[in-house]
Amino acid sequence: MQPLLPLLWAVAVLSVRVSSAPGCGPCDAAQCAPLPADGCPAGSMPDACGCCTVCAAAGGELCGGRRAAARRCGAGLECVKGDDEKKSKMGICVCKSNYEVCGSDGVTYRNGCALKSAGLAAEAQGKEPVTLLNKGRCASAPIIVTAPGQVYNVSGSQVYLSCEAVGVPTPVLTWKKVSLMKGQGMELLPGDRDNLAIQTRGGPEKHEVTGWVLISPLTSEEAGSYECHASNSKGEASAVGQIHLVESIQDVNSQLVSCGLMVFLDVYNFLFD
Ligand SMILES: *[C@@H]1O[C@H](CO)[C@@H](O)[C@H](O)[C@H]1NC(C)=O
Repeated sequence: MQPLLPLLWAVAVLSVRVSSAPGCGPCDAAQCAPLPADGCPAGSMPDACGCCTVCAAAGGELCGGRRAAARRCGAGLECVKGDDEKKSKMGICVCKSNYEVCGSDGVTYRNGCALKSAGLAAEAQGKEPVTLLNKGRCASAPIIVTAPGQVYNVSGSQVYLSCEAVGVPTPVLTWKKVSLMKGQGMELLPGDRDNLAIQTRGGPEKHEVTGWVLISPLTSEEAGSYECHASNSKGEASAVGQIHLVESIQDVNSQLVSCGLMVFLDVYNFLFD
């Protein structure tokens, strides 16, 4: 045991010297600046001198540096420096995880660090803590982001209606033809129509789905209202579009005008009757 003692002594002295960075004066805790009242976004930690408690550098903030001025990133963040920058240079705090997460508050955060910040802010305000519910976005009912519109065309033409929906989990799209005849209700498409096809594709955005009703050739049978229906485990949404059969190609434009006029007249009647 005897020969080990000087070694232990050396280790003890060394660790004391390492724990307080060069350039640190004597510690006077009374001189420490108070932490912000609304908390630190990335938590708090002892400063480089091991004297005062300071806010850790948050995502996007500067970190690194040497001696007493050194700043460290908060938990879950790392200090990223450019390849050509030396050890003494500053870096920027970047979240170690870069995927979206869902918090217990039902909010989707862009990464775990943003969730942690929200949790610390909630804690500072004495609110419920925010914990990780799941990786990825929070589940949400579908929303129709692009509703099927109005299409005018002649018999024998090729037409389509499209519909875009977003939700988590990604919604399932279905199309129904709305029958105007009493008691017939809705017909799930494509049914047995050989001139009508349903197409669905994921995207263009994450958790989005796009669907089409494609009709060729158009006949009077297909004129009418079409409902785009999106559903997932959180709920459902729908929107209706119309296909209008017109006499001649010239009517395509005039129908658009008269349709606009009809809407105008409806609004006019509603307001002034
Ligand atoms: C009308 O039909 C023609 C011929 O099939 C097609 O090229 C055109 O895109 C259609 N127009 C609309 C608005 O659907």
